[in-house]
Amino acid sequence: MSPRRLFVTTALPYANGNFHIGHIMEYIQADIWVRYQRMQGHEVNFVGADDTHGAPIMIAAEKAGVTPQAFVANIAAGRKPYLDGFHIAFDNWHSTDAPENHALARQIYLDLKAAGLIATKTIEQFFDAEKNMFLPDRFIKGECPRCHSKDQYGDNCEVCGAVYAPTDLINPYSALSGAKPVLKSSEHFFFSLSDPRCVAFLEDWTQGVDASGRSRLQPEVANKVREWFSVRTNQDGSTSEGLGDWDISRDAPYFGIEIPDAPGKYFYVWLDAPVGYLASLKNLLDRRGQDFDAYMADPALEQYHFIGKDIVTFHTLFWPAMLKFSGRKTPDSIFVHGFLTVNNGEKMSKSRGTGLDPLKYLSLGMNPEWLRYYLAAKLNAKNEDIDFNADDFMARVNSDLIGKYINIASRAAGFVAKRFGGKLGAVSADGAALLGSLRSQADAIAALYDSRDLAKALKETMLLTDRVNAYVDQNKPWELAKQAGMDARLQDVCTVCIEAFRLLTIYLKPVLPGLAGQVEAFLKTAPLAFGDAATALGEGHQIGDYKHLMQRVTPEQLDALFEAPAQAEQALVAPETLAPGGEAIAPTISIDDFAKVDLRIARIVHCEAVEGSTKLLRLTLDVGEGKTRNVFSGIASVYRPEDLIGKHTVMVANLAPRKMKFGISEGMVLAASHADEKAQPGIYVLEPVAGATPGLRIH
Ligand code: MSP
Ligand code: ZN
Repeated sequence: MSPRRLFVTTALPYANGNFHIGHIMEYIQADIWVRYQRMQGHEVNFVGADDTHGAPIMIAAEKAGVTPQAFVANIAAGRKPYLDGFHIAFDNWHSTDAPENHALARQIYLDLKAAGLIATKTIEQFFDAEKNMFLPDRFIKGECPRCHSKDQYGDNCEVCGAVYAPTDLINPYSALSGAKPVLKSSEHFFFSLSDPRCVAFLEDWTQGVDASGRSRLQPEVANKVREWFSVRTNQDGSTSEGLGDWDISRDAPYFGIEIPDAPGKYFYVWLDAPVGYLASLKNLLDRRGQDFDAYMADPALEQYHFIGKDIVTFHTLFWPAMLKFSGRKTPDSIFVHGFLTVNNGEKMSKSRGTGLDPLKYLSLGMNPEWLRYYLAAKLNAKNEDIDFNADDFMARVNSDLIGKYINIASRAAGFVAKRFGGKLGAVSADGAALLGSLRSQADAIAALYDSRDLAKALKETMLLTDRVNAYVDQNKPWELAKQAGMDARLQDVCTVCIEAFRLLTIYLKPVLPGLAGQVEAFLKTAPLAFGDAATALGEGHQIGDYKHLMQRVTPEQLDALFEAPAQAEQALVAPETLAPGGEAIAPTISIDDFAKVDLRIARIVHCEAVEGSTKLLRLTLDVGEGKTRNVFSGIASVYRPEDLIGKHTVMVANLAPRKMKFGISEGMVLAASHADEKAQPGIYVLEPVAGATPGLRIH
């Protein structure tokens, strides 16, 4: 069998916030599938990216007083600890604002235009007269024209999944100002999805089967999509048959990609967002010196997108049609998952502390593989919602992973090391039969991974651990160890345990890659692949020292994980006391305000006590000006002068000189302290990371 070639993605998260546990769930699901495929020897390119464009991000950046580019770069800089922390092995993480995406999105658009599928229409669009801008979809709210749910966004309904134009909303209002929006005309670009070519293609693509006879979409997804081909509700409440054209343009001001030959017009974020899948792949292949076009042209290439159930329309209608009619490869399948809730479906909310903050989980030293295992044990190939329940989590992990799986190694490894110099022995018939029964499950478990029935794959694996533990209980190695003349049997039984443990590790490796790595080191074996289930370590194989492989989950950890953050608790008492460091964050300033303050790296050339003052130290600072400055600082209570000499710090270099009792102060050194020095004493002079030199500006 020649290796499969797979191009796999997860949905591109909006770059307007850090990952939450729902994102992590999606990545874990996809990562397990990808790792499984790699363990079968298949070639996978697994990529993600930030979804950077759109009005909401533009507005958030404006509020923060930074450019949208700086805003999304800041979010991107925070991605790595989550991905590394949960063993999510993307081959690339890119951005929809990257040049590859600009180029690809524009090219796809031009190809669609050449195919006669781009139309322009002057439409009336909602305009916020108070804010003087066309209102982005997400900033118009109102009642869903299809299911009549209240407070739905202008682009799609989160309750019934309908996709519509903002003007289809019933009783719309501006979420920016609350004003009732007015209609204003503007020319828009449309992707002609109602074109008979598109309809015919999409009906076949969404409802039909692929070359190997498999349905492209999960049955529940295909059924849902089928409805969209029949009835559509219009702005005036009337209904139309079939798919509507898709409005793909937005007017400036907009953070996005400019439409070719249409100044002031930008692609709607959802046009260029999925193109980001290709852009991230192209960026990866370019860096490897591989040809992107040739890679995509390979008829054997399989393309899969993991997504949540809220974004099915974009991935089963717009995206396949964009690819098809721009002459590109269409996805082989879209894998749709449900939503994760935490502790019985309580709405996730960071401020109330009921959510599961992924970084907090890691910072508490909780094992990422517990979460991977727990989520995998709940995930199947359907798009059902799943719940993270703290008690269930602890019980599941402790009983399955520690009680059943790790236990097998820990019961046998000590004897192998102490009694047999770490060498495995011969296996007799009963043990061989047990191992044979474990090996015979390899294909079935593999098939479950391949079809994303992770829950079943783990359930089958745990049934195998039960068999092995029954064998251990029958043979009682701890008793054999005490009986004279039973050495050979003891080595036999322990060898069976170790070999069984190796087989189980293969079956669990997609879910527990870090642990599997430790097991490989312990067993002194090459990285385990699925095919290794057919082999054995063999008699005489020397294993390494056993170190305990995994701790149990404790109730204290879970209490800490779900404990509301201290700040939020305060906020419940009185919101106005929410004051980090003893004082509320100062009112927002613009980047221009910040630029007025000239902060520089300074070297403390000299420092001395000030006669007549118990508070002040006199600092002589080098700010790279060819002369030094004299600065007084109120830090005498916490620093000895000799400890500061030679250190670098940060100073305000353009502060008006101030005449003091002891002389003129030519600037100010930066130091941190609590607003209430008595409540929380301590003054901390800022010091840059090693390498900064005098005169460098803080930007
Ligand atoms: N930016 C779009 C996707 C563009 S894809 C070309 C978007 N971003 S998102 O950040 O809102 O969501 C990213 C993914 O996370 C989606 O697949 C979404 O379904 C998934 N999830 C968001 N919340 C989730 C849960 N609570 N549970 C599971 N998945 C969830 O949509
Ligand atoms: Zn609805």
